[in-house]
Amino acid sequence: MASFVVQGSNRISGEISIHGAKNAALPILAGAILCPDCIIHNCPDLSDITAARNILSYLGCETHREGNSITVKRGGIINCDIPDPLMREMRSSIVFLGAIIARCGFAKISMPGGCELGPRPIDLHLSSLEKLGVQIEEDHGYLNCSAAGGLHGAVISLPFPSVGATENIILASCTAQGETVIYNAAREPEILDLIQFINEAGGKIRVDSDSTIIIQGVPALYSCEHFVIPDRIVAITYLCAAAVTKGDILVTNMRPEHIAAVLPVLEETGCLLRQYDDAISLRLDRRPKPVKNIRTMPYPGFPTDAQAPLMALSTLAEGSSMYIENIFENRYKHAAEMVRMGAKIKVEGRVALVEGVKKLHGAPVECTDLRGGASLVLCALAAEGESRIEKINHIQRGYEDLEVNLSRLGANIKRSQDERNETEEENAQG
Ligand code: EPZ
Repeated sequence: MASFVVQGSNRISGEISIHGAKNAALPILAGAILCPDCIIHNCPDLSDITAARNILSYLGCETHREGNSITVKRGGIINCDIPDPLMREMRSSIVFLGAIIARCGFAKISMPGGCELGPRPIDLHLSSLEKLGVQIEEDHGYLNCSAAGGLHGAVISLPFPSVGATENIILASCTAQGETVIYNAAREPEILDLIQFINEAGGKIRVDSDSTIIIQGVPALYSCEHFVIPDRIVAITYLCAAAVTKGDILVTNMRPEHIAAVLPVLEETGCLLRQYDDAISLRLDRRPKPVKNIRTMPYPGFPTDAQAPLMALSTLAEGSSMYIENIFENRYKHAAEMVRMGAKIKVEGRVALVEGVKKLHGAPVECTDLRGGASLVLCALAAEGESRIEKINHIQRGYEDLEVNLSRLGANIKRSQDERNETEEENAQG
């Protein structure tokens, strides 16, 4: 099992260009099965993207990566299901459901497991698809979905602006018969990027007021090229890496407006920010100040994915910070690992109270999920001494070359392939 070894206390300083957004590329790759062929540029090279390509290949598509561009040729779809191992490889495979039904008229997937953030129900996905004409039967952990009479438009009011459910509705309805209206839709930039991709392929989707999306079904989508937006959470993570080491950084090739809710929080900690059209610079020369309270909210509120990286900064603040995690049930698993590094954090349900300490110390820690794992790297960068961060496969799902980029920015971080664990694992497999 690969791990990172970090010698802390080096300042992060320099410039970093941000790669394409994982959470935009994934639904767009699902939508690729609705086009004869498409080229998707600025596609990050991440294990989740590889997982999505594995699903596309299983479905009968041909995919080819050239640098940051992925070409998808649909060919004749040969499968309309996602086998359990592929579903388990990446929980967000659920976003393929709507596209497969739109393409095949039916689909079979295994129930996506929960994940590190708690149970991940898909009730909103399924109830929305039923409104579009899909019959769904559960059969021994599998979902058999069929739209015998074809998919038709519907008016769907989401009780919660679920990102994945909004994406599934868009993918299922963009070539359905008639018009679909989604009220209280998710408004994340990644949703708008998916809409742009589908419209570039001949779709007819528009965003009315802030949270209303209107999809006019078209007979078919055609070939297109698309450029994926930059990853706003990766941008936030690098900004926090500079802040937590009292460094300075210029984060380029990003959209400041996509992280508008996070900037005032960074300023509250004492960071000096400068905004440009497609870049942000950050500098922090002193111990960070605490943040009174951070409530994670659907976009454009404070993003839940930024909770862990900001918490890394709060562990060193001169005072206490309070976090309220309103999106996921169990998104504080990184806190216990931070405590192993000397942080003082109390978690009570959706509330975490972080009492800042002067210093963190290196320790062996384990990644529990993607953003939690990244936040442990941030703590290790600031800590005195050596940290060993295990299970970095979580981090590789969403950060391209994290240790290479951080090294270039001044960090002392190395990846190590722990043969001992490998051997033990091999023996266990017999
Ligand atoms: C997407 O997850 C992102 N993943 C998450 O990023 C992100 O944290 C989340 O949106 C919120 O912004 C991808 O885009 C691949 P939701 P998703 O549906 O679609 C509940 C990362 O680190 N819910 O908006 O799963 C759900 O349990 C990942 O990159 C239902 O109850 O988010 C959760 O509590 C982590 N029923 C809340 O809504 C449903 O049918 C938000 O879920 C669907 C969701």
